[in-house]
Amino acid sequence: MSVNDLNKIAEYIVSNGKGILAADESTGTIKKRFDSIDIESTEQSRRTYREMLFQADGMKDNIGGVILFEETLKQNAENGTSLVQVISNQGALPGIKVDKGLTPISEGSKETITNGLDDLDQRCKEYYQIGAKFTKWRAVINIGNGIPTDDCIDENMLRLANYAKIVQANKMVPIVEPEVLMDGSHSIDECYDATSRVLKSLFKHLKDMNVDIKGTILKPNMVISGASCPNQAEIQEVAEKTVRCLLENVPKELPGIAFLSGGQSDINATAHLDAMNKIGEFSWKLSFSYGRALQQAALKVWMGKKENIASAQSAFSHRALMNKKAALGNWNKDIEN
Ligand code: 13P
Repeated sequence: MSVNDLNKIAEYIVSNGKGILAADESTGTIKKRFDSIDIESTEQSRRTYREMLFQADGMKDNIGGVILFEETLKQNAENGTSLVQVISNQGALPGIKVDKGLTPISEGSKETITNGLDDLDQRCKEYYQIGAKFTKWRAVINIGNGIPTDDCIDENMLRLANYAKIVQANKMVPIVEPEVLMDGSHSIDECYDATSRVLKSLFKHLKDMNVDIKGTILKPNMVISGASCPNQAEIQEVAEKTVRCLLENVPKELPGIAFLSGGQSDINATAHLDAMNKIGEFSWKLSFSYGRALQQAALKVWMGKKENIASAQSAFSHRALMNKKAALGNWNKDIEN
């Protein structure tokens, strides 16, 4: 596959306002989500839930890619069709989370590094055979007293670049996700500084490793106030500071930026994206790669009951459409109801 093909995959995922459904919760994380509606997390219940989302009408035209956990990549729908095929039938590309979680950077540290490079090349070969077109690796950066340190940023971004290189050699598009967490009482400006340091380091390492930027998607956090900051920045300030930070640090040839929602409410995640796209047109597409902000409403309607599936699908389809409109800068509050 040529570099051109990787570029085509990346461009397709974020074309015409399309975004990404992040459905790659690890077994531990999906259990937490299911606990919130009192549903036992089993291979069967996870399959039923995810199949419900992938079969929803709102996948079509709104979702260009779905990030899966390894278990889901290998699962079949109830009628025997593979879930990879169900996703493809909806016009979306299947992708896979390939990182293997976090460990502290040193004993007792709040800072973490992401694992999973050791057998990545081998795993990529298998994922490609099953049909994955893209992958995701998440690095996590905390803001707090004296952190993030340069060492933590540097090590995490180096690993992201190594990951991206291996994935492209295996003919898939890497989504690079350096997430500066919302947790904490920091101000929006502290988030700006941390995000800016992270992005500078990331693109330096990607360049040093000769990663093809045209065949890469960035999945960043928005520049936003810490969740427990007493002075929460307004929608417009988040949009302006996020766009400025990206313009300063992200190369023009990158095809797409697809934000994570990171614990924002559904409406805020949509409103922020819309406000950014109303600022103007950029060299890259600004879109979404939401987990919670696309799924929360559907999960609450579903409650694990068969008779709720159609309404849960409507709830998901609505959020998918609202975020597509936001990716085009065509959303407003009145179209929510
Ligand atoms: P959230 O949108 O829920 O943050 O999830 C996106 C994701 O994939 C985090 O890695």
